[in-house]
Amino acid sequence: MAQLSAPRHTLRLTLRPFDIDDLDALTSIYERDDVNRYLYTKPRTRDEVRESLQRKLSQPFEIGEVNILFVAVVLRDTNQLIGDFMLKWSANEHQQGEIGGSLHPDVHGRGLAAETYRELLDVGFADHRLHRICARCDARNTASIRALEKVGLQREAHLVENEFVKGEWTDEVILAIRRAQWETQRASLER
Ligand SMILES: CC(C)(COP(=O)(O)OP(=O)(O)OC[C@H]1O[C@@H](n2cnc3c(N)ncnc32)[C@H](O)[C@@H]1OP(=O)(O)O)[C@@H](O)C(=O)NCCC(=O)NCCS
Repeated sequence: MAQLSAPRHTLRLTLRPFDIDDLDALTSIYERDDVNRYLYTKPRTRDEVRESLQRKLSQPFEIGEVNILFVAVVLRDTNQLIGDFMLKWSANEHQQGEIGGSLHPDVHGRGLAAETYRELLDVGFADHRLHRICARCDARNTASIRALEKVGLQREAHLVENEFVKGEWTDEVILAIRRAQWETQRASLER
């Protein structure tokens, strides 16, 4: 089922389901040019963000075999919502997942995306028994690629001008980590 059974805590963050009261904080993220720079979207109004929040609130979210877990990322010390992440997977024999997300620019560069991704990998591999988890980024999105590499994802592909996004041809990078690599990584962290 695509739902966190309980909030999950990392050193600095709580990962929890979204709430209708998250609208203002979520709008303060998605109304910005810089956040949308490498996303498919343009800066969004409060009403547009409300629509996407309502979609997140309709969890458990499943379309056919595809499950999407939407995760609100909150700073533990202030209880402020700073991020919107997801883990998506298909309930079939391929056991493939995908992670992605955005943080408010006020907290960029503090390792919080990596901290969130690490927790989502645990959810995907430990709870949902996935075999491989990937991420897709605009090839110019250095911060995103770096945060994913920090938690062990490796570049598998660089697709050249495979998409036409907001008026220009763009390259896409695909990164991924397999269960065996995640297990090795976890064992070395526990040592
Ligand atoms: C992608 C995103 C979540 C990363 O958040 P973050 O807080 O910067 O991530 P982290 O601090 O965990 O890691 C970022 C890493 O990239 C590095 N980095 C950031 N900008 C960089 C740049 N322009 N060039 C090189 N490295 C860069 C940081 O130094 C850090 O690496 P380090 O810890 O080794 O120093 C954030 O930039 C974001 O929300 N962007 C807007 C939405 C978006 O593009 N989402 C991703 C869609 S695929």
